[in-house]
Amino acid sequence: MISLIFLKDFIKDPKGIGAISESSSVLAKAMIGNLGIRPGDSVVELGPGTGVFTEHIREKTDVYLGIERNPRFARILDSRFPDLNFVNGLAEDGYQHYRRIGLPPPRVIVCGLPLAIWSSQLQDPILHSLDRLMTTGSTFRTFQYAHSFAFPQAVRFRQKMNALFEPCQEVRLVMRNLPPAFILTWCRR
Ligand SMILES: C[S@@+](CC[C@H](N)C(=O)[O-])C[C@H]1O[C@@H](n2cnc3c(N)ncnc32)[C@H](O)[C@@H]1O
Repeated sequence: MISLIFLKDFIKDPKGIGAISESSSVLAKAMIGNLGIRPGDSVVELGPGTGVFTEHIREKTDVYLGIERNPRFARILDSRFPDLNFVNGLAEDGYQHYRRIGLPPPRVIVCGLPLAIWSSQLQDPILHSLDRLMTTGSTFRTFQYAHSFAFPQAVRFRQKMNALFEPCQEVRLVMRNLPPAFILTWCRR
């Protein structure tokens, strides 16, 4: 049911949704599993979609803000996780949303945005927002699909992230996802 909703919205907005279906549970576990999130840690999720990663984050902490642009997904998130904070808004405004909700500095930022297929014009405001959100000790994690890993936009995003933050943890390829995806992690020291 949820997958059908995802596919329909992908057809309407392929660049914004960036995937034909939600991430697999294997990718979700790999994305969230070794981040060392503890109860009370503050987590921001950019582009949670229908909540595949959120489910795993929720098992660890409820100090959370999810920012999702798609109104239909935002409604699904609200009903699936009534105890978590969601904003139906833009990740570009992530810092402002975060300040307004009043959570402590984020320990972890998890990102499902399809940044690897976006132009600089779309990527740069996200990078600016991340630069403001990430404080010393914050970790940022995202994924890039294997088939788009060498796209110029994907390479440019990684280069810009490397200039702002320190790559930390090894890049890991998760095959059991449609399509397979690399997990990427940066830290602010
Ligand atoms: C590839 S999907 C990932 C969804 C989910 N994290 C997963 O892995 O199944 C990208 C998500 O980012 C959302 N999105 C796209 N642009 C956004 C923006 N500027 N701000 C917030 N969310 C956005 C889309 O609506 C979609 O839910």
